[in-house]
Amino acid sequence: MKYFIITGTSRGIGLALIRQLLASGHTVLGISRSPARSEHGDGRGVFYGFEYDLSRWEGLEALMDRMLACIDFPRAQMVCLINNAAVIAPLSRMGECSAEAIAHNMQVNLLAPMILTSSFMERTRSSKADRRILNISSASVKHLISGMSCYTAAKAGLDTFARSVGLEQGDDGVRIASVWPGIIDTELQEEARGADTVRFPSAAMFSSFKDKGMLSTPDDTASKLISLLMSESFGNQPVIEQI
Ligand SMILES: NC(=O)c1ccc[n+]([C@@H]2O[C@H](COP(=O)([O-])OP(=O)(O)OC[C@H]3O[C@@H](n4cnc5c(N)ncnc54)[C@H](OP(=O)(O)O)[C@@H]3O)[C@@H](O)[C@H]2O)c1
Repeated sequence: MKYFIITGTSRGIGLALIRQLLASGHTVLGISRSPARSEHGDGRGVFYGFEYDLSRWEGLEALMDRMLACIDFPRAQMVCLINNAAVIAPLSRMGECSAEAIAHNMQVNLLAPMILTSSFMERTRSSKADRRILNISSASVKHLISGMSCYTAAKAGLDTFARSVGLEQGDDGVRIASVWPGIIDTELQEEARGADTVRFPSAAMFSSFKDKGMLSTPDDTASKLISLLMSESFGNQPVIEQI
């Protein structure tokens, strides 16, 4: 049996991931603040939903305990953690971002994935299952965008974290990678397009992505991410810039 712990499953890429994994008969443990916006479909797999705000870092280890309790470890061939949830706000130049907004971005986008990764690794160490961790990062790490320094700093942190954790693993350790998924038609893109153009002039660039038909669908992206995660070579390259 294959198990997938995924953050940010109420919509967007996370929702597409759970639909496809359930359709293939896998077990998914999904985390978001709200339940999924639409049905998961009538997949053959099992879904456990956990409503949790990832900015509450103090409760993340207890959350990992509750999730791992749903896994039948003796029968588990593969156990994966997909750090997918993220927030794009604050969409403002540095100097115009509140301390609260900066802290929230870092807590959801970087701190939560780090704590979930560490607690996942510690608590699954004795398992014989193939253990894998996939971080959903962003090409904005390389192609910097004005007004997105919190988001890009957090994603750059995720990439460096994957490189660093990968370095620490021996042959029997976890396999970890960070991936840049492209530009996808989700609410995160909508938020960037709809942002106040005075505070966030780059909103026009996000509108042009949509107008020029440059956005991928969450379904196509999820399918490529699943192929990547399941591939034999997963973990050989710590940061994957294209899928
Ligand atoms: N869309 C793109 O073009 C694009 C490009 C590059 C990278 N990415 C990355 O792809 C990943 C998925 O993005 P998406 O486009 O699918 O975004 P999305 O549609 O905005 O979905 C974000 C998900 O994260 C969850 N989330 C946000 N804050 C949370 C919190 N405090 N606690 C728990 N869950 C939280 C949301 O659920 P709730 O609101 O219900 O909590 C939602 O399920 C992100 O890591 C994003 O950075 C996206």
